[in-house]
Amino acid sequence: MKAIDIIDKKRLKQELSKEEITFFFNGFLNGDVENYQMSSLLMAIVLNGMSDEEIYNLTETFIQSGDVLNLDSIKGVKVDKHSTGGIGDKTTLIVAPIVASLGVKMCKMSGRGLGYTGGTIDKLESIPGFKVNLSEEEIKRQVNDISLAITSQTKNLVPMDKKVYALRDVTATVESIPLIASSIMSKKIASGADKILIDIKVGSGALIKNVHDAKHLSDLMIKIGNRYNREVRTLITDMDTPLGKAIGNSLEVVEAVSILLGRDKDSYLYKVCVKIASNLVSMALGESLNDAQEMVVQNINNGQAYAKFMEFVKRQGGDVQKLKISDKKVVIRSELSGVIQNVDALKIGMVAASLGSQCEKEGDQIDHSVGVVLHKKNGDFVNRGEPLCTLYVGQREDYLDPLDAFEIMPQ
Ligand code: URA
Repeated sequence: MKAIDIIDKKRLKQELSKEEITFFFNGFLNGDVENYQMSSLLMAIVLNGMSDEEIYNLTETFIQSGDVLNLDSIKGVKVDKHSTGGIGDKTTLIVAPIVASLGVKMCKMSGRGLGYTGGTIDKLESIPGFKVNLSEEEIKRQVNDISLAITSQTKNLVPMDKKVYALRDVTATVESIPLIASSIMSKKIASGADKILIDIKVGSGALIKNVHDAKHLSDLMIKIGNRYNREVRTLITDMDTPLGKAIGNSLEVVEAVSILLGRDKDSYLYKVCVKIASNLVSMALGESLNDAQEMVVQNINNGQAYAKFMEFVKRQGGDVQKLKISDKKVVIRSELSGVIQNVDALKIGMVAASLGSQCEKEGDQIDHSVGVVLHKKNGDFVNRGEPLCTLYVGQREDYLDPLDAFEIMPQ
């Protein structure tokens, strides 16, 4: 078998066999297939797509490239959630303690920020003392004890995806639905959960820009899950505008706590979290979606979800009281009166990153204390001179101007 023949076959829109996929991708992982050959095949996949069979075979090759977690020693049904990423997405910090407070077991491997989208691990690391590297034994013990553990992905979980993703990132081959489906689902299957909820974000601040692609991705992920006997549900949620008011690590933890305390129940963030948590509880406990939602809301209202969050943070060594938020604030005021048409997610993400909330290139140091807090959302009226947002500024002075992110219809 030769790499060039496989690339040529995909260029001609022909279906690759399981053997060809395994040969090519394993060869890439062990160095026999060069970066330029993989780049060429990835671009052919982006342009010509993959059949369902090719997608299953790629997912399986990914899974087999590393460790597969066996969670059998954790009693009960294990759930997992994944978001395809977005600006201000702190749903894991909220949803995980809610479901754990209802006795649903959640053992979650999370990632760091990608591009302008923040990662759960960076947010948790903003809590002083919080340990993000748990061993497999620690994870299992903790989930058996308190129903919840969140840890960074082990090095050997789907190492092939890591290597392929790094190349996709620099060759304009991230935006392929089959590649995204295989990449995400291989990690979810290898992480061992029985029931999986995928929150597919759509909009300017997300990888997926339209609902048509989101539905295609949803179908593929459900089909892949079924192949592995995992129940997969998906939600398609908006990411044209940031999720919640806070963007930046410590600020997002504070906002997550406030949602867990039952504040801001009219917010889209609260509603999305209740929806995700209800689906997980419904899958794990076999409850109808309505009954699951009642249980979720009850555990927010009675303080148990918040208590579970505090128990979980303490168990992983963190102290929320010691969160650091920059005291250097810059208030950004509207230059005109009118109705806010849109607060652009991507632009706000870029402002937060320019303040230092994200690694923009390898080796960058994250400043957990910086970020943006929005005071206005889509549809709100703003008077000239009224605050639109507050920037929490750190060492960096070359941050972007957020005014441009606010689209205002003058009145
Ligand atoms: N997130 C992933 O893990 N993989 C993708 O391909 C895209 C988003």
